[in-house]
Amino acid sequence: MRTFAIVNQKGGSGKTTTAVNLAAALGERDQRVLLIDLDPQASASSWYGISDGGRGLLDVFVDNGNLLDVFTTTQIDGVDLIPSSAWMVGVDKALAGEVGAETILRQRLETLPAGRWDYILLDCPPALGILTINALAAAREVVVPVEAHVLALNGLAQLLQTVDVVKERLNGALQITGILPCRVDLRTRHAREVVQQLRDHFGNVVYNVYIRENVRIAECPSFALPITAYSPSSAGAEDYRALAEEVIHQEGSR
Ligand SMILES: Nc1ncnc2c1ncn2[C@@H]1O[C@H](COP(=O)(O)OP(=O)(O)OP(=O)(O)O)[C@@H](O)[C@H]1O
Ligand SMILES: [Mg+2]
Repeated sequence: MRTFAIVNQKGGSGKTTTAVNLAAALGERDQRVLLIDLDPQASASSWYGISDGGRGLLDVFVDNGNLLDVFTTTQIDGVDLIPSSAWMVGVDKALAGEVGAETILRQRLETLPAGRWDYILLDCPPALGILTINALAAAREVVVPVEAHVLALNGLAQLLQTVDVVKERLNGALQITGILPCRVDLRTRHAREVVQQLRDHFGNVVYNVYIRENVRIAECPSFALPITAYSPSSAGAEDYRALAEEVIHQEGSR
């Protein structure tokens, strides 16, 4: 089982889009995926058609709740979901001062039956708060979607520093397995330059695959379907399938 935290504290960088569509593309490849929506905005949950996830995930964090009680199957083969909801807004306050608050998710994940899922994907909120730290403490691998419109190297440096601190203090096994350029508009030279700068700066930590700007991707949340189901032959579906392939292939090289 591989556990990925999909993280970038910058809003709108493509985290949820990547979590939802990578999950579906892995499902297409017969992988069993558990997508956990850690964002109180609950965008990944509503993308999978769940408009109110209730307080189940909050109970997992503040009341010793069991993850297996709150997961649900989805209409996409291979993909199960633990939904979020506005209840999660209170989690920072509820956990303030709690001993060991950073590792609650890791402990809960350890109670899941071994071999039930091949991949666990954690969609994080746009902040380096307690939920994102929980994801980094629980994951083995970090995926960082970066919006290729603007190169925010400063923000990335802050994120990488946080990953280093979590690695040092909470989770020695943590590694960044991929920076993923998203919303790459090939019609502009700027977008290609941003991808190149990322490769110059971070070398082969940048995935070979990048995700193109694709209007179909922007449309499909309203239809509560991942891109591979909403528009199976779109550029967006192609790109997320290619990412799934690269992710699966990475496994062999680790
Ligand atoms: N490849 C793409 N082509 C077109 N639009 C995209 C693409 N990827 C993401 N978007 C759009 O960009 C916006 C932000 O994407 P997304 O919600 O995935 O980012 P996020 O990092 O999860 O945001 P937040 O930080 O708010 O959680 C959304 O409106 C989404 O539809
Ligand atoms: Mg999001």
